This record gives sequence, C-alpha cells and structure tokens, in this order.
Amino acid sequence: VKVIFVDHTGLRRETEGAEGSNVMRVAVDNNVPGIDGDCGGMCACATCHITVDAAWADKTGERSELEESMLTFLPDVSPAARLGCQIKLTPELDGLTVHLPIEQF
Ligand code: FES
Repeated sequence: VKVIFVDHTGLRRETEGAEGSNVMRVAVDNNVPGIDGDCGGMCACATCHITVDAAWADKTGERSELEESMLTFLPDVSPAARLGCQIKLTPELDGLTVHLPIEQF
C-alpha cells in the first residue's frame, strides 16, 4: 500500500507499507521526519499527528473517540487532522497522501 507524505516545504516522500499496518508505522519504518510514534501506536502520544489530503478524506473514515480526545491537546488542529497510528492501511488506501504539520519539525 503506497503512502505519500508531504512535508511543510512541499517535499514528497513515497513509501510502501504492508496491508494491516498503519500510517505511523510506515512513517517510522521509512524514517519520515515529523512522525515519532512515541507511544507505539497506542493512541496516547499524538506525535503521529498528520492531516489527510482532501482527496482522501472520505476513504480514511472518522476519528475514534480516543483519537478525538488526543487531538484536543494539540494547537490548531485542522478538521482533516488524524493520528497516523489510527489509520490502518487497506488496499483502498493505496496512494494515500497525508501532510505533515510544521510544528512537528
Ligand atoms: Fe502515539 Fe499515534 S503513535 S498516538
């Protein structure tokens, strides 16, 4: 499953993750700067904060309640903000594009 990370300078990084993995895991495995995944995907640190590209918003689904409450700790969260560890990779998400918030650099 291809996942494309775009940073605040517009730099694109194309990565490939296994089905069933998640956006945070792929970022960490590919050393994508801006995603730390400190809690290991437990939805408890918010260091995997990303915003989903508008073209993909429908496919990535809704935030969970826990995710929602984690995101409230961050300044200026966009309506498209998600926690990368909570977006599971499925074949439908092949080519998923997410943006990395500038605060995480
Ligand atoms: Fe910690 Fe996602 S990795 S909330």
